[in-house]
Amino acid sequence: MQVSAAPQNRWGRNWVFILAVAGSTIGLGNVWKFPHLVSENGGGAFLIVYLLCVVLLGAPMMMAELALGRAAHASPIQAIRFAAQENGASKHWALIAITSLLTGFLVFAFYSVVSSWVLAYFFASAAGGLEEAGSQSLEASFAALLYDPLALLIWHSAFVVLVAGVLFKGVRGLDHSIRVLMPALLVLIVFYLIILSFYGNWRAGVEYLRVIDFSTISLSSVITALSHAFFTLSLGLGVLLAYGRYLPDKTDIGQSVMLILLIDAVVGVAFGVLVFGFIEADMVSSSRGPGLLFVSLPFSFDTIGAGNWLAAGFFLMVTIAVWTSTVALLEPLVQATEDTMNCSRRTAVTLVSLMVWAVGVFALLSFNVMESWRIAGMTVFDLLDFVSAKILLPVTALLLVVFVGWQLKPAFLQQALATKPWLFHVWRWLIRFFVPVLLMLIVSSSLNSRF
Ligand code: TRP
Repeated sequence: MQVSAAPQNRWGRNWVFILAVAGSTIGLGNVWKFPHLVSENGGGAFLIVYLLCVVLLGAPMMMAELALGRAAHASPIQAIRFAAQENGASKHWALIAITSLLTGFLVFAFYSVVSSWVLAYFFASAAGGLEEAGSQSLEASFAALLYDPLALLIWHSAFVVLVAGVLFKGVRGLDHSIRVLMPALLVLIVFYLIILSFYGNWRAGVEYLRVIDFSTISLSSVITALSHAFFTLSLGLGVLLAYGRYLPDKTDIGQSVMLILLIDAVVGVAFGVLVFGFIEADMVSSSRGPGLLFVSLPFSFDTIGAGNWLAAGFFLMVTIAVWTSTVALLEPLVQATEDTMNCSRRTAVTLVSLMVWAVGVFALLSFNVMESWRIAGMTVFDLLDFVSAKILLPVTALLLVVFVGWQLKPAFLQQALATKPWLFHVWRWLIRFFVPVLLMLIVSSSLNSRF
């Protein structure tokens, strides 16, 4: 079942692989969710809890997914099948790969819609369209965009084309794009930190972390931290299986994962500093999510002067962040389509892009034409978010850790991870006992919050 180990099927360099996975993890979660969560949940105290979740839940799961992908050097469905076969487990475990692909498909549908707004704002600000806009008119123009199905359709289509473009040439194309996009992203972040020290309120930026208030940490904030770690680390969607497929056999997965987590955490904190440094704290809590990005930030840049340029650069930075995330989201679907339909990479990319484009259209129409269509009180957009991110995702992950922890043999896993013996033992203990309990906590709280 193993595909050929031809070098064109591998990442060119290990750092490119590390940046590719980091690129998938750095996205909207870091930009608009993390700063808000930290400020609402006890500042630095939440950061500490979150980092613990990353180490205890995120790291072991990320290692497991990468190892499975690499062991088979095949698409996610094949990879799970291969592991099951090698370890004498039932081949029905491949179902995990199918549910994770389905979840990735749904996540892409709502994620790409928001990404296309970011793209629209990049062009609007670069063209000078946000000039002289007060916060009220910025709010009005954001609302106007959401009520304009045609504009949304155009931006959504453009964004899907951008994503498909990167994927078209397989891992070679991916590798080349990451080499440009990720350094550009990191340079932009540093650039904005410098700008902040001149024009923004650097002290306010750091202040939100300096408040360390453990009294606000409750079970529910721990679960929030767990779910956030889970989403921002791109777990449970087959993405890491798909990226792991292209890893050379000798790469130490444990070490690579540590670096990836470090990059994600540093970037997360940097975005927090930027958000709180540029935007007044009370505005941050009142305008979380879309309002933060599309109304408050351009408004702050406008107040500084040179609003359009600063906004354009910022939206370019976020565009890159969501671009590298959405590319990662589609990769497993493309690989699976290539394999199951036995078609070329190009056909697979075209087919998958058309499908996600079509579902995305429903998501974007739910802001205007289809706004009154509700299922269980939710619009299509909210429903996609709820079913995929809150339900399917943790359930799939739970099945995956049970499979890895309880069905696969240590010798197989040790070889698949190619990491240090002590790390392997700690990892295996976490995956068998600790991670499943944490995931059950996430699942039960998502179910409770809705029903
Ligand atoms: N990690 C991304 C973010 O923080 C979102 C995301 C979740 C994702 N799962 C993913 C991206 C899988 C790529 C692949 O915004």
